[in-house]
Amino acid sequence: MENRKIIIFDTTLRDGEQSPGASMNIEEKLLMAEQLQRLNVDVIEAGFAASSPGDFESVNRVAQKIKGPTIASLARAVKGDIEQAGEALKPAERKRIHTFIATSPIHVEKKLRMAYDQVIDQAVDAVKLAKNYTDDIEFSPEDATRSNRDYLCRILEAVIKNGATTVNIPDTVGYTAPQEYYELIKYLMNNVPNIDKAIISLHCHDDLGMAVANSLSGVLAGAGQVECTINGIGERAGNASLEEVVMAIKTRKDFFKVYTDVDAKEIYRASRLLTKLTGLVVQRNKAIVGENAFAHEAGIHQDGMIKERMTYEIMKPEDIGLSESRLVLGKHSGRRGLGKRLSELGFDLSPEELSHVFEKFKVLADKKKEVYDEDIIALMDEEVSPSPDVYSLESLQVISGTTTMPTATVVLRKGEERIKDAASGNGPVEAIYETLERITGLKGKLSSYRIKAVTEGKDALGEVSIRVKFPDIKRDISGRGIAVDIIEASAKAYINALNKALVYKKSE
Ligand code: KIV
Ligand code: ZN
Repeated sequence: MENRKIIIFDTTLRDGEQSPGASMNIEEKLLMAEQLQRLNVDVIEAGFAASSPGDFESVNRVAQKIKGPTIASLARAVKGDIEQAGEALKPAERKRIHTFIATSPIHVEKKLRMAYDQVIDQAVDAVKLAKNYTDDIEFSPEDATRSNRDYLCRILEAVIKNGATTVNIPDTVGYTAPQEYYELIKYLMNNVPNIDKAIISLHCHDDLGMAVANSLSGVLAGAGQVECTINGIGERAGNASLEEVVMAIKTRKDFFKVYTDVDAKEIYRASRLLTKLTGLVVQRNKAIVGENAFAHEAGIHQDGMIKERMTYEIMKPEDIGLSESRLVLGKHSGRRGLGKRLSELGFDLSPEELSHVFEKFKVLADKKKEVYDEDIIALMDEEVSPSPDVYSLESLQVISGTTTMPTATVVLRKGEERIKDAASGNGPVEAIYETLERITGLKGKLSSYRIKAVTEGKDALGEVSIRVKFPDIKRDISGRGIAVDIIEASAKAYINALNKALVYKKSE
C-alpha cells in the first residue's frame, strides 16, 4: 500500500502567537508566513480575524501575499466572526474558515451555558454561513478529548452534512494520552456515518508533554492532518512542534507509513527566524532544533560517530538545513565566495544585498580569525528586518572597571541625523541603556537579558536577547543584537527593541 500524505497545518501565527511572549507585529507575521511558504506547509492559520483589527489586517495581508499554502482564519461559531474571517481571507488564492465551539460538559454547561442541541445548531449555522465564503471549512469541537464520544459523533455528523470538509479533534488542555487519543480517532472513524466525506485533523497541546506523541498516535489511527507550530510554541505549554512531527514521520516512514510535503531543509531557518522575531529562545536539548540536538560530547559516542555516523545519529543535521559547523571563510575571502556560501545556506541575495552583507562580513572577518556558517547565518539574521529601522548604532564607547562609575557615550543615526549623548549606570550595559533612553526619549523596563556565544572560541560572536516593557505598549518587546563585542551586542539588542517599539506605538 502506498504511503498516505499527512496535511501539515501550521498554527504558529494563531495558536502560537496568542501565547505570552510570542506576539508579533504584522510585518513580523508576514516574514514568518514567507518562511512557512518556503517550508511548504499545506495550511497557514494566519490568525483570528475577528479578535482585533490588527489580527484582521495580518490575516488579510498574509492572504494577499502568500501563494501556495491555503490560508486559514479562526472564527468562533458566531455570525460576526465568520463574516470577518471571510472578509479578511478574500484575497487568498486558497482560503479556509476554521470555526469552533466547545463540546465538553464543563465548557458547554459552565462556559457557554447552552443546551447541547443548541450547540449543534450553532455549529451547523456557522458552517452554512462559512460556505458563502469558501468550500474549505474546518470545524473544531473545542475540548474534544474531554467531550462525550457519542455527542462528538452527533455534532461531527451534522457539520459534515452541512459542508465541513475537515473536522479537527482538539486536545485543548493537553489532557489525553497516546493510546486514548488513538482510540478516540478510531471511534470517530467507525461511528460518524459520513466521516469519509471529511479529513480528520489532530490538534494537541503539550501540558503533559505528550502533544507530539498524541499527534503521531492520531496519525497511526488514520487522521489526515496534523496541526502544529514551529518550536512548539502555543497556549500554555505549547502545541505539537512541527519539526518534531515532521522529522518523526520522515525518519520513521517505515513505521508510520505516511509522508508530508514539508521541505525539511527549511526547518532550522524557520526555527531561528521565530526565535529572532519573538525572542523566545529554544531550550538547548530540544529535539531537532535545540543546540545540542546534533552535538556528541561523550568520547564513546564520538568514537562511534567517526567510525560510522549512523551508530549514534538517526538524522543528519543537513536534513533540517543545518550544515555541519564548517570553517567557510576568512578575511581574504571575496564577495563571490561569500555569495556562494550564502546561496548554499539558502539565502539568495540581490547584488546590492550581497554588497551590504559583504561589508559586514569584512568587519567581522577582521575581528574574528575564523568565520563559520553559524556566524554567517547570524549576520543574515540581522539583515532580516521586518520594518526599516528608525535608529541605528554608529559608534559606542564605554568606560568601565572595578573602581570607576561605568559611563557610555553613544552615537545613533536617525536618517541623516547623528545624535550623540552620554550617561552612567551601575554597569556598562545599564550605562548604554540609560544613554539610549536619553537619546530616543523612550523609557523601557528590561524584563529579561540573555547572552550566548554563536560559535565556540574566545573570539566567538556574542548574541544578546532581551525583552523590554515600554509604557503604553501592552506586549513585551523583544530585541536581539549580535557582535564580537558583547557590549556592542547589548547596545544593538536594545536599539532593535526600541525600533520595534516605535512600530508598535504607531499601530496600537
Ligand atoms: O486548542 C484548541 O482547542 C484550539 C481550537 C480553537 C482549535 O486552539
Ligand atoms: Zn489550540
